[in-house]
Amino acid sequence: MTNRAIKFSAKTIDLISLKTDCVVVAAYTGATLSDEAKQLQKLSGINIKSLYDKGEFEGKSAQQFTLYQPTKGIAKAIILGFGNKGKIKPADFRKTINSIAQSLSKNSVKQTTLLVDAIAVDGWATTEKARHCAQTLSNAAYSFTRCKSKKTAKSTTLTVVYGTDTTAKAKKGLNIGQAIGDGMNVARELGNLPGNICTPSYLAGEARTLARKHKSLTTQILSEKQMKALGMGSLLSVSAGSHEPAQLIIMEYKGAAKSVKPHALVGKGITFDTGGISLKPGAAMDEMKFDMCGAASVFGTMNALLALQPKMNVVAIVAAAENMPGSKATKPGDIVTSMSGQTIEVLNTDAEGRLVLCDALSYAERYNPQSVIDIATLTGACVIALGKHASGLFSNDDDFAQTLLEAGVESGDRAWQMPLWDDYQPQLDSNFADIANIGGRDGGSITAACFLSRFTKSYKWAHLDIAGTAWHSGAKKGATGRPVPLLTEYLINKA
Ligand code: BES
Ligand code: MN
Ligand code: ZN
Repeated sequence: MTNRAIKFSAKTIDLISLKTDCVVVAAYTGATLSDEAKQLQKLSGINIKSLYDKGEFEGKSAQQFTLYQPTKGIAKAIILGFGNKGKIKPADFRKTINSIAQSLSKNSVKQTTLLVDAIAVDGWATTEKARHCAQTLSNAAYSFTRCKSKKTAKSTTLTVVYGTDTTAKAKKGLNIGQAIGDGMNVARELGNLPGNICTPSYLAGEARTLARKHKSLTTQILSEKQMKALGMGSLLSVSAGSHEPAQLIIMEYKGAAKSVKPHALVGKGITFDTGGISLKPGAAMDEMKFDMCGAASVFGTMNALLALQPKMNVVAIVAAAENMPGSKATKPGDIVTSMSGQTIEVLNTDAEGRLVLCDALSYAERYNPQSVIDIATLTGACVIALGKHASGLFSNDDDFAQTLLEAGVESGDRAWQMPLWDDYQPQLDSNFADIANIGGRDGGSITAACFLSRFTKSYKWAHLDIAGTAWHSGAKKGATGRPVPLLTEYLINKA
């Protein structure tokens, strides 16, 4: 999957004796050099400051200037711009590290030394800096190769020495960052896999594999027959038109005593969303293979937890199904009964995410969870409201929402809270059942969340609509791995 492994370490470094493929030193705007850049200037005899005078380098964030063989032991040095010293924002720092990560992802560099640990970033301490370096670099090492017949990229390891900070805090940061970066890559790989490979059964297989590999994880997969016995008529109405059977995938991470109540993650895992009988238009329909990115983020987060082993319990529930038209498919107007007993009029078979989630959310009750977060590429309306930068956050508990918003800011994976007011609920009224599965065009992401709220009354719950944030379209089409950083941040802070 990740075609390049990365190993991080922190070491005491002396530029005089350093032997490395590549060293990265910082410089700022206003012809200001970092101590490391000054030292390199002295050792190499290259006048780095003069680059500013000649207009070759300005020190703006993410700007790079390469020096070849500045000293005997150093093959290449990159002067990396970080912008205005003393005014570096987390987002600028991440952008800058990402630019260097892109350069390093070329396979020629096997070993690199980053001397960026002394840079002051607004509001960040040692741990955050190390962590975001590791997260960004791990992420940049990913590329999707599985379905290419020629695997050009050779699998090599990039060894990254992160600065001279060898404190436990820096090491902890590197660990967390790598776990999150790798977790995002797991989510991206699952998201990018096409619908003919990544089916509900495929996802179930991934859970079984994960459980085989890790003692602290157990899994249980419910078949359609078992779901039927539980009364999950809503979830099953989505897979009815498909040859691929739905799967309810439960993974339990056990890092604390049995008596400790778990946190629950519930992922929408529509492995392909055609819209069903309410068929989607053809344009960009291929992107509906990403409709399982909520589920993918749950897998990615479980992977991160397995790497970090926090002392807590987490239960993951993935509602996996394929939404297809067919002679047995659910029709507009059909009425189904959910596990909660509430009847649902399916006015639009393309509003299928909420139909699988509501039964998975009812199922979550049996774990008596401390908190429940569902993650779903739920509505196009959310993309209209927030664009592709923030995930939509809805919650029945404002303190919980605040905690999640903060986890988003901390991890560089932001969400924005949307209202879940009762005023919107009547839009879901049905003449024929307890509730309709659509609420009209107005506030489409809100009425979708309102639908879910009818099934989550017994616990502290939040819903993340990741329709805008889960993947990129266009030339860089591909899954992003969001919101693995937000979810992992939230959970490890709870441990
Ligand atoms: N998976 C889609 C939401 C989606 C659409 C995400 C486009 C990202 C891009 C979801 O199942 C869906 O089809 N939602 C409908 C709901 C409508 C029928 C009420 C939508 O958003 O149009
Ligand atoms: Mn749909
Ligand atoms: Zn969908």
